[in-house]
Formats: sequence, C-alpha cells, structure tokens
Amino acid sequence: MMITTERDAQTEERILELLGRMTLEEKIGQLCLLNSGGGEVPDSRRHEIAAGRVGAVLNEVDVGTVNELQRIAVEESPSGIPLLIGRDVIHGFHTVFPIPLGQAASWDSALIERCARIAAAEAAATGVNWTFAPMVDIGRDPRWGRIAETLGEDPWLACELAVGMVRGFQGENLSDSGCIAACAKHFAGYGASESGRDYNTTDIPEIELRNVHLQPFRAAVDAGVASLMTSFSDLNGVPATANEFLLKQVLREEWGFRGFVVSDWESVPQLAVHGLTAGDRDSAFAAASAGLDMEMASTTYREHMVGLVGEGKITIREIDALAANVLRVKLRLGLFEDPFTAPGFVHVAADLEPLETARDSALRSLVLLTNRDRKLPLSKQSLGSLAVIGPMADEAVEQLGTWIFDGDPVRSVTPLQALRGYLEPDVEVRYERVLETTRSRSDEGFPAALETARSSDAVVLFLGEESILSGEAHSRADIRLPGIQERLISELSVTGKPIVLVVLAGRPLALEGVVHDVDAILYAWHPGSMAGPAIVDVLFGEESPSGKLPVTFPRVTGQIPIYYAHKNTGKPPTPETVVHIDDIPRDAEQLSAGGSSFHLDAGHSPLWPFGHGLSYTEFAYSNLRTSRAVVPMGESLTLEFEVANVGEREADEVTQLYVRDLVASVTRPVRELKGFRRVRLAPGETRTLSIELHTDDLAFHGRDMRRRTEPGRFHVWIGGSSEAQLRTEFEISHPSEE
Ligand code: NOJ
Repeated sequence: MMITTERDAQTEERILELLGRMTLEEKIGQLCLLNSGGGEVPDSRRHEIAAGRVGAVLNEVDVGTVNELQRIAVEESPSGIPLLIGRDVIHGFHTVFPIPLGQAASWDSALIERCARIAAAEAAATGVNWTFAPMVDIGRDPRWGRIAETLGEDPWLACELAVGMVRGFQGENLSDSGCIAACAKHFAGYGASESGRDYNTTDIPEIELRNVHLQPFRAAVDAGVASLMTSFSDLNGVPATANEFLLKQVLREEWGFRGFVVSDWESVPQLAVHGLTAGDRDSAFAAASAGLDMEMASTTYREHMVGLVGEGKITIREIDALAANVLRVKLRLGLFEDPFTAPGFVHVAADLEPLETARDSALRSLVLLTNRDRKLPLSKQSLGSLAVIGPMADEAVEQLGTWIFDGDPVRSVTPLQALRGYLEPDVEVRYERVLETTRSRSDEGFPAALETARSSDAVVLFLGEESILSGEAHSRADIRLPGIQERLISELSVTGKPIVLVVLAGRPLALEGVVHDVDAILYAWHPGSMAGPAIVDVLFGEESPSGKLPVTFPRVTGQIPIYYAHKNTGKPPTPETVVHIDDIPRDAEQLSAGGSSFHLDAGHSPLWPFGHGLSYTEFAYSNLRTSRAVVPMGESLTLEFEVANVGEREADEVTQLYVRDLVASVTRPVRELKGFRRVRLAPGETRTLSIELHTDDLAFHGRDMRRRTEPGRFHVWIGGSSEAQLRTEFEISHPSEE
C-alpha cells in the first residue's frame, strides 16, 4: 500500500521521529505482548512497562488497572508510548451474540457489523483497544472445535462477513470513541488441521491456499484490518509463525499490508517444539526474520533480540520496520492523544440496543433443518401443556458458547425462561432436565421424561453440546450427539407426541441417527444472551426462521471433509452409480472400471447442504436472466430474477447465486457462491432482484499462482441453497474477441 494521504505521511513522519529517539530495547519492547490476567499488577510488570520493555498487554479488563498501566507507559517510560490492551472479544463482550458460526448463518453482514460495533463499545469502556477477532479461517471440518469461531466453509461468504466484523470493531475511523483494532486470524490455513485435531499440521497446495484459505484474509486487509495473528499450525513444512512466504511475500509484498502481525500464544518458542529451530534464540530469529512483528505471551524477542542484533543476524533496520508496524496502529487508534478511558463511560449509541440486537442476531441465525408435516410453528392456542426436556433448556452460561470471558450470564434469557414467559399461565410448561449434561450417561431421568412427554400435548427437546465441547483444543472424533442423547430421542419418539428438537451446539453435528425420530429440527448453534426469546419467536411463529447453513452438515462423521464447492472428479456420482452396502450381492464382482466417487455406507450427499434452511413460507424463483449473453473481460453483467413468496406468511429469504466455470486451465469447483441477498417478502409478494457480477469476481489463481479470469462458458444458478436448480449461462469473451 502506498502512502496516499497527507495524514498517512504525517503518521510516517511521526513514526520516524519516535524511532529516532527510542533505544533498541524500547523498540524491542514494542514487539512484546504480555499476559496480565487481571488482579493486582505485580511490581515487576510496572517496572517493565516503566522501562519501555512492554508494548502491549492482554487480558486486563479492569478500567482502573488499565488506566494505571497506561499512565505508567506514557508518564514513566522513556519515550512515553501508550500500550495496546488486547482481549478476545470474539462474539460479544458483556452482551453475547451467537458464536461466529451462528452469526454466519444469518448471512447478514450489516447485522454482524452492528454486533461487532456493540462488542467493541462495551469492551472499549474497560480500556480494551484491540480484539483478537475476526477469526476468518475457513471451516470445513466439524470435528475441529474451532469451527465454532469460523464464518463457515465458504470463502465468498466469509469475506463478506469478515468485512462486516472489521467495520464493526474498527468503525469509520479507528480513533473514534468506542472503536477498537481488529485482528484477522489465524494466518493461515489453521482450519485445515489434519483430522480436525486442533493445532495440527496442515498441508495445503498453494493454489488451494490462495483460492480458498487466503481469500478472507485478503478481504480483511482490504477493509483496513489493523492486525493479523499467525496460526499455531505448520503450513507445508514451515510453521505459520515463521513463514516468510505468508508474512513477507503474500501479506506485505502482494497485499501491501501496513498494520502489524502478532504471533499466537507462545507460538514463537513453539517453533522449536515443531522442530524448526533449536531453541528460543533461534526461534526469535526465525520469526523476526520471517516478518513477525509482535510476540504473544512469551519473551524470546525480549531476551534474545539485542544479542541477535549484536551478532549482526538481525539488523536495526529490520527491528525498526517491525516496531513501525506496531506504532502505526497505535497512532491510528489515537492512543498518543488520549490513552485513558473514563471509568463508567458507556460508548454504545442508544440506537444500537445491545439486547435487542442480540435477539435479532440469534433469531436470524436459527436454521430450520427439517419440518415434517409442518409441525412447526406450534400454536399456543392449541396447546394445553408442553414438555420441555433436556440439559440445554435452562443453561444461562452454556447457551453463550466458547470465548465468553466477559459475557454476563445475568443478561441471558434461557429457552425455558422465555417459554414460561410466553406460555404461562395459559399453557402448562413441564420441564425435565433428564441429563445432567449433554454427555451424561445415566438414564435415571428417562422414565420421568417419558411420562411427562406422554401426558403433554407436544415435546420440545433442548439437546446438543455444552460450550466446552467446542472451541480451542476441544475437537471431537465422532460428531454425533454426545452421551445417550440419541437414545433419549429414540425412546421419546415412541410416545407418538409431536417432537421438536432444538440443538444448541458449537459445530454441525451428524444427526442422521435422529432425523427420523423427530418432527422438526431447529439448529440454534450457541445463540448467546437472547437465545430464549429468539427460539420462542420461531417455535411459535412470531417470526419465520430465516437462517441458512454456512457449512455443510454430513450424515456421518466419516464423510468429512464434505463441502459444496468440491471438484467434479473424473467420476462424479449419480443416482445410478451410487450403491448401498446392503445392496451388494454376495457374489458381486470387483470392477476396476465403472463406479463413481461415494461411500458405500453414506452415499455421496450430505444430510443438509450449504445454504440450506427452511422457512414457514415457500419461495419460488423464476425467470433468471442475464443482462448480456457475452461479457467482455473486465466488464460486468447483471443477473436478474424473480423471487416470490408463495406461502401464507411474511418472511425473510436469503437468495443465493452460484456459478460454475465450465472449462478452465485448472479444475474449478462444481459451484461457487458469488452473491447473496437477504430480502423480506409479504405473502403473495414477488420481487425482482438483481445481482451484479464483474468478470473479476470469477477470478482464481492458476497454475502459475497468478490471479486471472479465463474466458469461456459459465453456468449460474439462483435459489435458496447450494442445491438451487434454476439455471442460466453466460460467456466471458476473450479480449481479442471483443
Ligand atoms: C490462543 C488462540 O488460538 C487465539 O485465537 C487467541 O486469540 C489467543 N490464544 C489469545 O487468547
């Protein structure tokens, strides 16, 4: 990125002036992020800050302490440089919104921006000025616990939503009140950890890295994200924290990033554990020379960098460049003008209404997966009693999900509370927890639950996974409902009562074992503070569900990885070629020809595809047309279509546009999302919508790794999921053909 404005030029001058008067130790201090962890600040930490040996602190959210640390930094340290105060503000602060994967199910970038805006403002009130979000790793493995923190499996969707989050945290201007610096993480490839085991090795061909995993980072950088965090993982033999290809070639040279890059927690000394370096000194050298600006939690830079400079292995110039990247963000934040936070000051603009936004966000994240015989919505008028069953019905903390250090469970309204508020006294609400947790194995509570179900008019089950079963270092090898929940469902199904399953979980679960035992499944993710009211609104039809899956749901764990934008292969499965294991004759011959790509025991399709989500109304798509049949390279075309609400209820629909590049110099996915719009339609209403596509939107990295759009034919589909059927086509013409 060039220095484009006068303000940028002034910032660069100011950085030079600061570096000009800083000692080497102070410059290295700017590269040091230390854990605070709350409580009384020890004298040793005060002394380090006063000596200019700390540039940033994480996990301090007491405004008095933060102000005191800032005071020491600006008044006592030699160059008076204020501190960055970092915190994992991932999906809310005191008010908690759905986990990022849940927010992604809303397909609503503006709403996501508003959630991040509120989270930033609540965090900024404690003195936090830097969050470690958004996480923009592509999540294609639901075994991986951190899929909860991703924006799903698709680069286009993740790009749009990541930009919303960055804007929300950082605002128009990073120095505005209530804005905090964002951090796109984990650069890069973390989501591809082998077998979903957290922190594991990733082997990603460069072409896939560029076409899939790097896309949302690029979008965040283009949106002005202030910082990036490296991944713990090893990428193609070089751990990300010392990966010069990522940190220098891609990020700085190709993308022109001007912010700073922080390691993940102790991932610099871990370079030795990976086997890349021989010890801390070597690790500090490897990371700094690869272009890592700041070290989190560990202190190898601080301990070894002066020596490395003395030996001539790292130059002062290199240290200046790293420190300048950190100072640039501090200047953008306006910390030099005022690093202090007025205690008790609340930034949230009145019109943002945290709890209302939390309710709206939870509501839009709910995905109705199945609804046999339209059992949902339930009707209050036709119920005398309702059985509410399961360990997730009344869990003020568990509904919040992973990474909620500062979440205030007192703000939570649980499903049980909301159901009671909505139904009583007209409808009797009978609650049976049955299981202590979702993974409990005692069936002692089953008889009472069965009795309650039998004597009630309908059953709503709240099952899934507690927060602790997903998130960092919480991966699973089998993603069915844990414990004996499947058996509970199976036994309840024998009662013959209408059963609605509401799943609260941090990942897609493999639900094939229960899908036929229940009438409807509402997937709620971990919905945050306002889980209860949002779920009740949908269960009772106050609102129609409108969430759409941001990730494919497998039938069984063994299908993973399974995602919609796969390649076609040379032997794509068709109904004629897929064989079920039970149908193989005793004397079947082994064939070396024929057959196609599928599992004998799971077929080839997922249980629910990416983009899927039912509504209480029906939408009909028609008349997909292109503004031009042939688009010259470098120009745009408009896709127009009609979407009609042909049901009887007002509802939102997320319309989705997919494209396939039919022939290219490298094989391309069978479909790729290239646009979407959330619209609200009254019953009987038809709307003409248009989505513009530029030929650049169809670009990909080819064999030479360069990004290009290739001329040729493209199929395009519009509809309400990645299995949309309405199709047309267009052609991109070669420049010489124009
Ligand atoms: C480790 C996690 O991987 C990262 O996402 C988080 O931001 C840091 N710890 C700080 O808590």
